[in-house]
Amino acid sequence: MSIESELESLSFPEAPKIIVKPPGPKSLELLRAQEELETRALVYPKAFRFAIDSARGATIRDVDGNYYIDWVAGIAVMNVGHNNPYVAQAIKEQLDRYWHWMSEVPSEVRIRFLRNLHSILPEGLRGRAKVMTTVTGADACEAAIALARWVTRKPVVMAFEGAYHGVHQGIVMATAKTELQHFAGVPLVNVVRVPYPYPYRCPLPAKDPEDCGNAVLNYIEHLLSDPYTGIGEVGAIIVEPIQGEGGYIVPPRNFLRGLREIADRHGILLIADEVQTGVGRTGRWWAVEHFGVTPDIMCVSKAIGGGIPTSFIVYRSEYDEKVPEMFHFGTYRANPLALAAGSAVIEYIQSRNLLERTRQLGEYALRAFEDIAERYQVIGDVRGLGFMIGIELVKDARTKEPGAELAVQVRKELFERGVLMHTCGHYGNVMRFMAPLVLTRRHLDEGIRVFEEVIRGLSTHK
Ligand SMILES: Cc1ncc(COP(=O)(O)O)c(C=O)c1O
Repeated sequence: MSIESELESLSFPEAPKIIVKPPGPKSLELLRAQEELETRALVYPKAFRFAIDSARGATIRDVDGNYYIDWVAGIAVMNVGHNNPYVAQAIKEQLDRYWHWMSEVPSEVRIRFLRNLHSILPEGLRGRAKVMTTVTGADACEAAIALARWVTRKPVVMAFEGAYHGVHQGIVMATAKTELQHFAGVPLVNVVRVPYPYPYRCPLPAKDPEDCGNAVLNYIEHLLSDPYTGIGEVGAIIVEPIQGEGGYIVPPRNFLRGLREIADRHGILLIADEVQTGVGRTGRWWAVEHFGVTPDIMCVSKAIGGGIPTSFIVYRSEYDEKVPEMFHFGTYRANPLALAAGSAVIEYIQSRNLLERTRQLGEYALRAFEDIAERYQVIGDVRGLGFMIGIELVKDARTKEPGAELAVQVRKELFERGVLMHTCGHYGNVMRFMAPLVLTRRHLDEGIRVFEEVIRGLSTHK
């Protein structure tokens, strides 16, 4: 079977197919029950008003029998698709052995996973790194900054505007959403916030994207070298190599390399948060590889567990002698089911050459969204790498006024037509394409057609 026909067989062929306007009656019943039983703090059931029956490849079936093309992938988690048979088989085999004991004791599944993970590390870390197991994305970021502070003995963390690293009590301070910091109840300490080079809305005066990156680098250099900036001793810079929740923002080409140089100059550890960008999402194993940069510490989660929660940090071996026993300790780390799934994810991506396919199909999708952007006033910017594409909606392409309500409307109308697409961005106005990498060309084309149909209904021509 060719790869394309194999990928066709992974998804529900019917999608998109809406037989009852969502939420249908069965979905409504479950949504209402949920409202009675669960906290109001939930977000996603308000954005996508349905209840899920099952999922295959890059498609989802709701309990009312509607079929959707999935461009969300459980927030960039299901890179090899829902119910991937290779991953499912690995989990089932592990289930027959064991699925929890003391989380550090070695087993075949653990060593196989560690070998797999080491084999795909970026050059510069491959063969020279240690792995520490954690549980969620936020937990990995917590461990990363704890390690950087411990190794450098410098307490301050530099983080970016628009950053998202999770909401645990410590790491939430590096996340840029002030309300999440308030919810966590931790005072803003030890994090100094700097602009992210956001070419479409450069926070500093700049004439083009590279200039925007340089302006940010110059500012960071100034903060670190002027003894009277009052920011304290910075031990870590934590950065998303492509900003995720902040709006799928690709930094200018030379930015990360410049950041690497600044970190080296000032004895600061560079942490790449690859939680969302990693495991093939951008068409390389890690987004840093697009920019030729080796981080000192890397945070890995989401797709690495194939949908079973797990996370890791990977760090330069030379820090290992400084790491004491019980550093970042916990009961639930490296669950064997997640490790089995993780190996299967890596092996599936390798054996199906999915990185190359993601680069090619991602490029094709980017061009298609750019074509649409040329025709309609409401699309201000299109950017991305691989299957990580942001389409920024604005009220008017000339004024760039953010179109947040518009994005909510686009998400709703896509949903009602059977295409699941989520939003992100500083203003919540960016539509993000983060489909499973096994999305078929047919489902990509169909989704793009529906996307344009929705945009056409809401926009005037350029
Ligand atoms: C870049 C990045 N880091 C960290 C996190 C936090 O991960 P988790 O939600 O598993 O805590 C996320 C979640 O979206 C993320 O995108």
